Amino acid sequence: MTAEGEVATAAAGRAEAPPGTTAGEEILRVEDLVVHFPIRSALLQRVVGRVPAVDGVSFSLGAGETLGLVGESGCGKSTTALAIMRVHEPTAGRILFKGRDLASCSKRELHDVRRNVQIVFQDPQGSVNPRMTVDDIVGEPLLIHGTGDRAHRRRRVAELLDLVGLQPEHANRYPHQFSGGQLQRIGVARALALDPEVLVLDEPVSALDVSIQAQVITLLQRLQEELGLAYLFISHDLSVVRHISDRVAVMYLGRIIETGPRDAVYRMPTHPYTQSLLAAVPVPDPSARHETRALATGDAPVPTAPPSGCRFRTRCWKAQDRCADEVPELIDRFGHGHPSACHFADASPDLP
Ligand SMILES: Nc1ncnc2c1ncn2[C@@H]1O[C@H](COP(=O)(O)OP(=O)(O)O)[C@@H](O)[C@H]1O
Ligand code: SF4
Ligand SMILES: [Mg+2]
Repeated sequence: MTAEGEVATAAAGRAEAPPGTTAGEEILRVEDLVVHFPIRSALLQRVVGRVPAVDGVSFSLGAGETLGLVGESGCGKSTTALAIMRVHEPTAGRILFKGRDLASCSKRELHDVRRNVQIVFQDPQGSVNPRMTVDDIVGEPLLIHGTGDRAHRRRRVAELLDLVGLQPEHANRYPHQFSGGQLQRIGVARALALDPEVLVLDEPVSALDVSIQAQVITLLQRLQEELGLAYLFISHDLSVVRHISDRVAVMYLGRIIETGPRDAVYRMPTHPYTQSLLAAVPVPDPSARHETRALATGDAPVPTAPPSGCRFRTRCWKAQDRCADEVPELIDRFGHGHPSACHFADASPDLP
């Protein structure tokens, strides 16, 4: 858990440690990440604007832990994931793996980081080549990284299929012969081929039926225990994130607006956005449901033109003049060990 002073320092921009830093050995750190996409005119392809998809995001991930990154569609979760994977070049900010800055490390170091940080995507169908066998799909990272000969790859693929609960004979089949849940297991096996320390899981169960979701989550938990993996678990689904995460970061329009240990955030959300998200989550026992709060109204504004001051103010029932003028800092105002970015944050009563 992070001390309040540290949080305030981080919020001020000179991050000693990002908000909500883990107690364990830090393996991945994202500092003030900014990713802006250019908007081009249809005719001349001139840059006429920009989409600030991620606008100053900081967090850290400890070895063996799970950080849940949660927020509505379009808030910048996948862009954050793809910046970590170097698919998108950050506009500003730093991404550090075991203290090494990905932007300035040598080719050899980057090769090492690429092995160690792997991604699993949401769409199990779309993220595999339909013309490749499972053997080739799962073994491809070994081929790309020049690890071992064909016989070694075969053995490793068999090992990986066993690890994710598939059969050796599945190796010779094609993607269309599998269910969504099985395909996601293949995606996980492929991500584990190079024995990484970090998995970025971008909505890994969102495309699956609820009963299958539980199986894949159980698999991920078992793999984490057996292999000591750290997970950046991305989802728009608060229930799934609550189930799997040690710590949670809530995103809204390109920024983290509340973060902290899982139970602190879910039981005592202090930001109106987190409160409204949690009030909207169905709970199994309605009598255990917290009093109905004012819900955020309307859709999130388009990220091309985020509101001034607090980005949530156009949907916030507590908004006042100050909210339009001043950007609220991510600060731990109550000493609960979880900072939030709201001028009028309130420590709510315990939620179930
Ligand atoms: N390659 C891109 N070019 C332009 N805009 C993009 C691109 N990728 C994402 N965006 C925009 O950035 C914002 C954040 O998108 P994304 O990171 O995919 O959100 P999430 O994963 O939380 O749903 C959205 O407004 C989206 O339209
Ligand atoms: S800063 Fe103002 S607008 Fe933003 S969440 Fe807090 S009360 Fe609402
Ligand atoms: Mg996404």
